[in-house]
Amino acid sequence: MKFLRYPGGKSKLLYFLTDFLPKSGKIAGTYIEPFVGGGSVFLFMNPSKAIIADLNKDLTDLYKGIKLYPHKVWEIFSQFPEGKEAYYQIRGAEYKTKPLYFRAARTLYLNRTCFKGMWRNSPNGDFNVGYGGESRRWVVTQKNIIELSKAFKQAEIVNCDFDKTLSRVSNGDFVFLDPPYKPGEKEMKDKHYANGRFSFQEQIRLAHKLKSLEKIDFKWMMTNSDHPDILDLYNGYFIRKVPFGTSSNVGIFTENSKEVLISNF
Ligand SMILES: C[S@@+](CC[C@H](N)C(=O)[O-])C[C@H]1O[C@@H](n2cnc3c(N)ncnc32)[C@H](O)[C@@H]1O
Repeated sequence: MKFLRYPGGKSKLLYFLTDFLPKSGKIAGTYIEPFVGGGSVFLFMNPSKAIIADLNKDLTDLYKGIKLYPHKVWEIFSQFPEGKEAYYQIRGAEYKTKPLYFRAARTLYLNRTCFKGMWRNSPNGDFNVGYGGESRRWVVTQKNIIELSKAFKQAEIVNCDFDKTLSRVSNGDFVFLDPPYKPGEKEMKDKHYANGRFSFQEQIRLAHKLKSLEKIDFKWMMTNSDHPDILDLYNGYFIRKVPFGTSSNVGIFTENSKEVLISNF
């Protein structure tokens, strides 16, 4: 289902992941995704019970808005005027005090019409990506929004850090983790910074958190960078190289992925 354009989206990797992901009917507990991003894996899995979380509040509000008010979100999304001038007017106008469904429609509109589906905020938190055009806007239909709403109704949507989400894991759950990373060694060299704020310290914090849950009988699977320092963090787990990969640029597919799939099963 075409929906969000999202950096690091895993939709193109699904064909590879399907060989390793459990069938959602086989998950005894809850499907949990602490870095849900564009949601491609969650939507593919279509679990009957899920917790999906992300630190990006505009994103989780978009999902909550669609879950609760699909018709209102569509109405507003489809009525926003077209063109560059309108884009900058909508992007710049106050929205934080507006209802959830308006904020959701605005986020979807900006995502579908901004430059290359980038998601970047200025230091004061305002979305600051330039205009990209209307050609990808009407890929999303009212039918999509209604289907998405049904999928989100099966999920609790949370805006929080991964530590809090992982603290809720219990026996029988399945956790899919896609932390922000830039595939490959090159990008990691400079003080191990990947994707701006998700530093190598954050990768360490994530690995420690997963290890602290070892007594719980649950399965987890993660995509991450094929970098020796990352691999060191998961010594003793199952690690597979991903043959083809995603890029931090939306829609770009790289041949040598430099990505790995790590799991505890
Ligand atoms: C690579 S993206 C996930 C992409 C997703 N799998 C998809 O297919 O679209 C990583 C996500 O982690 C979120 N994130 C970054 N730091 C986080 C943190 N500390 N806790 C939870 N989410 C975080 C980002 O907002 C981003 O949406």
